[in-house]
Amino acid sequence: MWVRLFVVAFGLFVIFKITLITYRRRRYPEPHEDWSAVNLDDVSFPEGFHWGTATAAHQVEGHQANNWTVHEAAKGLEASGAACDHWNRWKDDFQLLSDLGMTSYRFSIEWSRLEPTEGAWDEAALAVYAEMVDDLVGRGIRPVVTLHHFTHPDWWEAKGGFADRANIPAFAAYCERVVDTLADRVKTWVTVNEPTVFSTMGYTLGMFPPGRRSIPTTLRVMRNLLFAHGTVYKALKPKHPELQFGVAKNVTLFDPKNRWSPIDWPLARLMEWFWNGAWRSGMQNGRMFFKDIPEAKGTLDFVGLNYYTHVLVGPASVSLLKMKFPKRRQEVATEFGYPMYAEGLRRAIEFLAPLNVPIEITENGVADAEDTLRTEHLRRHLWVLSNAVKDGHDVRSYHHWSLMDNFEWAEGYSMRFGLHRVDFESQERTLRPSGEVYKAIVGRR
Ligand code: GCO
Repeated sequence: MWVRLFVVAFGLFVIFKITLITYRRRRYPEPHEDWSAVNLDDVSFPEGFHWGTATAAHQVEGHQANNWTVHEAAKGLEASGAACDHWNRWKDDFQLLSDLGMTSYRFSIEWSRLEPTEGAWDEAALAVYAEMVDDLVGRGIRPVVTLHHFTHPDWWEAKGGFADRANIPAFAAYCERVVDTLADRVKTWVTVNEPTVFSTMGYTLGMFPPGRRSIPTTLRVMRNLLFAHGTVYKALKPKHPELQFGVAKNVTLFDPKNRWSPIDWPLARLMEWFWNGAWRSGMQNGRMFFKDIPEAKGTLDFVGLNYYTHVLVGPASVSLLKMKFPKRRQEVATEFGYPMYAEGLRRAIEFLAPLNVPIEITENGVADAEDTLRTEHLRRHLWVLSNAVKDGHDVRSYHHWSLMDNFEWAEGYSMRFGLHRVDFESQERTLRPSGEVYKAIVGRR
């Protein structure tokens, strides 16, 4: 009896202490601007700042055969299918980049095209990517290449993918072959896109391949993604010292939903550590989730920032599993469900600053089929970004997600992120009014 009482009392004391600590260390509510009083035209960027858009192979190219197409069929998801047929239309799509005035373009290479079966390398497929790179360079557009954007060959998935460290050499060999081929024209490389999204969606929530639900496996995959990046970096940087290698990190912010809840505060801190802090620590110290990964320490030449939103954490957070997101009364919900929260871009930049490397905004955008929000979304985020740069943050680029509507993973084609609307029947691309706004903003610079 007394022991039980003591345990309960001690538990309550611990929760109270954590709440007090977390409360003291955070503002409540988190920062919000009075946007009616902000001059969104008051933006400036340094000479040489890169303006771009971003895509990913599986989302735009069409007719893939990889871990995702297997997952789409197995789970009865909307098939990626022809996507934007970009594999056949990339020359015309690159003209859209020139028309927008882009100076940078982030895209990913599909490993399963280059190595459809283990050890069988398709030089013709690699030659297409080399042609894409040559075309971009010829247009004066800097290619930023992502080596792993959620997809990989199904034969590699069958071996366990990133869940088994023994598989990393095959990934590193693929990276080395691509980088060796394109190193003379591509200087900026993202090894892995959104390691936290990849591992939690695939191994905690099971919404991405391989559709697992295991926290221990999620932690192992997170560590192995860090190990994989470090392995690739240490293999390639000595061979190509002029190249810049980074990771595109999704920084989602987690804020307590209720001021006085002893649950929301520690829960928000825990989520922030799990989603962001553990990864940063891994990159800084070579240690993640209480295990050493020395291969990862100090292996960033830059960090990519994919920023979208913040999440309000409270007892009802389980609704997040159904992608239902609470929002502050002054916030506007996007079609994806989460709110527009441009102020968070500054917080995300400040979170990454301790890495002491340049930041590339590798993704920022909004699901908005009717284009009613995207212009405001774009202008607010660029205003926030401009202030961060003015205050001394070393941000080198802004890549809007995305050049055109495309396959949005588990949401299929229901989410429209494009500056260009895509008619997936005719494959016609149509620049949206928000795309004209982006073009004008870039043109003035
Ligand atoms: C991600 C990916 C992109 C998404 C984009 C919109 O963050 O999931 O990098 O592939 O399409 O972020 O959700």
